[in-house]
Amino acid sequence: MRLFIAIRLSDAMKDSLVCTQRTLHDRGVRGNYTPQDNLHLTLAFIGEYTDAETVLDALSSVSFRPFEIDLEGMGCFGDLWWAGMRDSSPLSAVVRRIRRALAESGIPFDKKRFRPHITLIRKATGEMPGAAPEPVSMRVDTISLMRSDRGRNGMLYTELGTLEAEEPEQPDL
Ligand code: 2AM
Repeated sequence: MRLFIAIRLSDAMKDSLVCTQRTLHDRGVRGNYTPQDNLHLTLAFIGEYTDAETVLDALSSVSFRPFEIDLEGMGCFGDLWWAGMRDSSPLSAVVRRIRRALAESGIPFDKKRFRPHITLIRKATGEMPGAAPEPVSMRVDTISLMRSDRGRNGMLYTELGTLEAEEPEQPDL
């Protein structure tokens, strides 16, 4: 099965991204638009791997505190157009820890430099207009192991398990 580790997005963040997709569509941009339910931020792409339990074990060795992510701007990798994220050291730090845990468990993953992006359109045609999403933020307290399957009407993503943030201890009152 095809696996990846991702942050699932809040409804408010997805709404903002869909709004941007509509604007692009209205301006004549054609291509394969990512359906709202599939919008996500990938942290590590594992690809074909049979043993999800081993990945979940590796993931469980990673700890992180809740942190914020913020949408910022748009960009492209060729004809793949994406929404970007503001630079965030907690985000890069958790990605480093996840990738280290995968490597230590011998789990293969794509080692390309992490460039946080949310794919909005694949095979986009046309000029990219200056339409960036509203700068919505969200709190990340869950990271998900996802499975990706090719469905009849596009990709189907299923959550196989999660890593939860450690809550900071409450001071005694
Ligand atoms: P993308 O949106 O930029 O293609 C599931 O395929 C997720 O894993 C997508 O978010 C995809 O990013 C990401 N991904 C990262 N590296 C990948 C690779 N080498 N092949 C396919 N998907 C990859």
